[in-house]
Amino acid sequence: MLHPEESLTRVLDESRQGESYVNQLPAGPSPKKFYMESYGCQMNFADSEVIASILTAEGFGPVRHWANADLILLNTCAIREKAEQTVRTRLQLFREAKRERPGLLIGLLGCMAERLKSQLLEEELLVDIVVGPDAYRSLPLLIQEAESGQKAVNVLLSREETYADIAPVRLEGNGINAYISIMRGCDNMCSFCVVPFTRGRERSRDTRSILQECRSLFQEGYREVTLLGQNVDSYMYEPSGTEQTPGTAGKTVSFAGLLDQVARISSQLRVRFSTSHPKDLSDDVLFTMARHENICKNIHLPVQSGSSRILQLMNRTYNREWYQSRLKRIRDVLPECGLSTDIIAGFCSESEEEHRQTLSLMEESGFDMSYMFCYSERPGTLAARRYRDDITDEVKKRRLGEIVSLQNRLSLESNRRDIGKSFQVLVEGDSRKSQLDWKGRNSQNKVVVFPKQGKPCRKGEYVNTVITGCTQTALLGSIV
Ligand code: 5AD
Ligand code: SF4
Repeated sequence: MLHPEESLTRVLDESRQGESYVNQLPAGPSPKKFYMESYGCQMNFADSEVIASILTAEGFGPVRHWANADLILLNTCAIREKAEQTVRTRLQLFREAKRERPGLLIGLLGCMAERLKSQLLEEELLVDIVVGPDAYRSLPLLIQEAESGQKAVNVLLSREETYADIAPVRLEGNGINAYISIMRGCDNMCSFCVVPFTRGRERSRDTRSILQECRSLFQEGYREVTLLGQNVDSYMYEPSGTEQTPGTAGKTVSFAGLLDQVARISSQLRVRFSTSHPKDLSDDVLFTMARHENICKNIHLPVQSGSSRILQLMNRTYNREWYQSRLKRIRDVLPECGLSTDIIAGFCSESEEEHRQTLSLMEESGFDMSYMFCYSERPGTLAARRYRDDITDEVKKRRLGEIVSLQNRLSLESNRRDIGKSFQVLVEGDSRKSQLDWKGRNSQNKVVVFPKQGKPCRKGEYVNTVITGCTQTALLGSIV
């Protein structure tokens, strides 16, 4: 287990603010050393914690710098072309190192490995090991193969693998927030998205192992768990005969049911989740959120576009009006709920008018935060096969710029509306800018910064704050 103080460095990758990072591991005493970098979404980072667990069990120890490693692993993302370019640049650097140290092994893991498969071995990048997201259990065997001079590949996707029994090594290590993978894969087939091809079919992890992991984390001092999946609302687990607990015989557990059970572990354990699909977010989930104070009032609900025609081309299975009706429902049931979204600028054939529909939807919805991207064509996807990527880079960038400026204004307005309000905040550590201030988040997932002076408190504690000011990205307040 990593010491909580040995926290890992997060290097933000501009391709997805706040969601892409490189992690560097603290040094350990083991004879064989591995170094790992992770790119992409939170799911990928959660996978890295599973990989670290598998390697640790094999006697590998983590190192902080790749120059000291016997094995370099890149856990990669394939969602946009830029993410893959970043990895290629890193691989070129490691190729030079391998020329000087031929015994050094380089492994490519995750979505890019799955997408490119053995093609990567032929590309002169000097990769020794290629492992897809469902094949991490075979990593020790593949390392042995690579050590004996063979190229080692396993990119088999599975319909069952959830790594349910592997206790992740917590790489992020602030000891307060943990990410827990509850399902894998995606069956949605949005036309722009490579994920169904790289992560395979949807499958849910067994409820007992999720609850067990949450309980252990709480006992270790963690105070917030985020339940992760590509599409958490379609979580559905059917206990087999042997694992049924009294009173649950034959009962299928839905996402609302899972949320309810996690929330009951302790009122002092906050629960978040990500990501929801507008078509699957059920009233049951909203009512469960309303029933439990400790289920955070924040929903990430990717809209992608404000135009019904573009949404249809994207195969999102809802239109603008349906999305708006879901937002209305959220606001009716959970009036204080924070809302964030994902938006793609410049999808195939998007007109200026359709782009303006995205802007107007954003304005009407008043999102607190958005992740915003230019459309990036991914080989093999429905969109790549059916539609022309006909919006020029220049136009995509201009539209994205307009979307980002609007979101900046909406975020500032949303934060200003909170001035004068009181929030319970979970203290997460020093503020980024000053050791004289604490940083934490409120239920709506907004960062709250407040001075340490006054009432003493600790990391992992809940405090009540009153908001006295704000920036575009944070609320400023004081303890009451
Ligand atoms: N191009 C641009 N953005 C994409 N996303 C997924 N695929 C693409 C693509 N090909 C975005 C979507 C999704 C988020 C995780 O990444 O907005 O919700
Ligand atoms: Fe991709 Fe759509 Fe699945 Fe999200 S829901 S992972 S965007 S296919």
